[in-house]
Amino acid sequence: MAKQKGFASKIGFILASAGSAVGLGNLWRFPWLVTKYGGGAFLFTYIVMVALLGMVVIIAEMLIGRIGRSDVISSYGRANRWFKWMGMLALAVPFIISCYYTVIGGWSLNYTLQYIVNPTFASADSGAYFVKYITGSYLAPIMGVLFMVLTIVVVAAGVEKGIEKASKILLPLLFLLVIILAIWSLTFSGAKAGMKQYFGTFKFSGESYNYGQVILAAMSQAFFSLSLGMGAIVAFSSYSGQKINVSKSAAQVVVLDTLVAIVAGIIIYPAIYSFGSAELAGKSGPGLLFVVMPAMFANMPGGHFFGLLFFLLIVFAALTSMISLLEVVTQYAVSKGRLTRKKATWIYGIIMAIMSVIISVSFNGTYSVKGASLLDFFDGVASTILLPTVGLCSLITIGWGRKKADLFKVLEETNSDFKGQKIWLVFVRYIDPILIILVLIFGIVDQFKNVKDFPNGSFGVVLGVAIALIVGTIVINALINSEKFMNYYNSKKQNLLLAKNDSGQVELEEVSE
Ligand code: TRP
Repeated sequence: MAKQKGFASKIGFILASAGSAVGLGNLWRFPWLVTKYGGGAFLFTYIVMVALLGMVVIIAEMLIGRIGRSDVISSYGRANRWFKWMGMLALAVPFIISCYYTVIGGWSLNYTLQYIVNPTFASADSGAYFVKYITGSYLAPIMGVLFMVLTIVVVAAGVEKGIEKASKILLPLLFLLVIILAIWSLTFSGAKAGMKQYFGTFKFSGESYNYGQVILAAMSQAFFSLSLGMGAIVAFSSYSGQKINVSKSAAQVVVLDTLVAIVAGIIIYPAIYSFGSAELAGKSGPGLLFVVMPAMFANMPGGHFFGLLFFLLIVFAALTSMISLLEVVTQYAVSKGRLTRKKATWIYGIIMAIMSVIISVSFNGTYSVKGASLLDFFDGVASTILLPTVGLCSLITIGWGRKKADLFKVLEETNSDFKGQKIWLVFVRYIDPILIILVLIFGIVDQFKNVKDFPNGSFGVVLGVAIALIVGTIVINALINSEKFMNYYNSKKQNLLLAKNDSGQVELEEVSE
């Protein structure tokens, strides 16, 4: 394999990883889950999960990338050849996540545009607007596709010019705005009640949730928010130069990501208690951000401007994350399939866009359970089950697939001052695998009790679609992985081009191996 083109600078890797981590997970998914599971109790469970699991897995995945220095499947394979198939699993996940990630990205894009063109946007009833928008408008799927096109353009531009540059500018801006809004939000009348619920509630909220589900949700959120369990961090770290300090970069990404999530809660809780109601918040589910925030902006001086800025930055945050979802599969196709970066991005991007349209259109009520089922379902399969499973694979690959001395050598190569490596390894080998397995088992058993919530028939359809997607991507990836098939494919293509092109100038793309 030829040397990969990577990041131009050290900060590039950290920014791209942070850009991948900080996204809709922090600003949309986290507030939704916190309110769903009752505030403080979830927040603290989440922080514990990030510390015990997130931090450990992110180091493991960075190591897989730096040992592999290649696409995700090869990286897992190089870390330990018996675990190559784990990389295969990792590559199927982006397709599921990106199909609903794109939908939410499209919502944010629409809100941004609405704030630009519509001077009275969402000032009357943000809840009614939201429901109408997602259930009855052609705009929703179109905006999703538009969001996907934006992503494709950046990824097609390449690692250094596209990804690194975008993250460098957008991330600091986002951080600043989030802090300003949090301070602002704290001045509202409901701030005190909101903060009490957010930081001071240690009981899991009533309803039918119990500890198993809450802990599972917190674990999956840790994986989701830190972009773990899907090869994103593996891919980025495969691009990083020798000088990157693994444990330090990991800590920086984890701290930054967690801070943004916590501050997002500080924005949303006062807003809920000032302009919405706790009951509404509990019910609005995935739409929380899009219902509560416009209500807050409508009640704040200069709110229209801040609304525009806020949703614009959400689009940017979502974009830098979506980029990493697409980059993983692109990197793979480019290195294995001899496709150009541009082609690979468009092909995978269009597949993802089509899936997003399906999810988006399903909100018209066909498959809706309590307002959001296809999305919930895909999110459940991908984030709740697959991410932790692949994360477990990463831990096994590193913890059991490599020799201890080897690992410490790589770690010391990158940073001599990492004192916690022995403890880290104990977590990698024993504590975290057991934790993941237990949480998965108990959480899933709990979740199955709720499956009866799905209306008849549609659950089967949804399950069928999900399984077809997973199997489909595994098959496509296996084909790309197969030398034989690609040789056949390329020879066919060559013949076609030769036939078309009299001068005999074959425009085959450069092979990156
Ligand atoms: N972490 C991103 C967010 O918080 C989402 C994301 C990007 C992701 N790449 C990922 C999640 C890889 C899991 C795996 O919005």
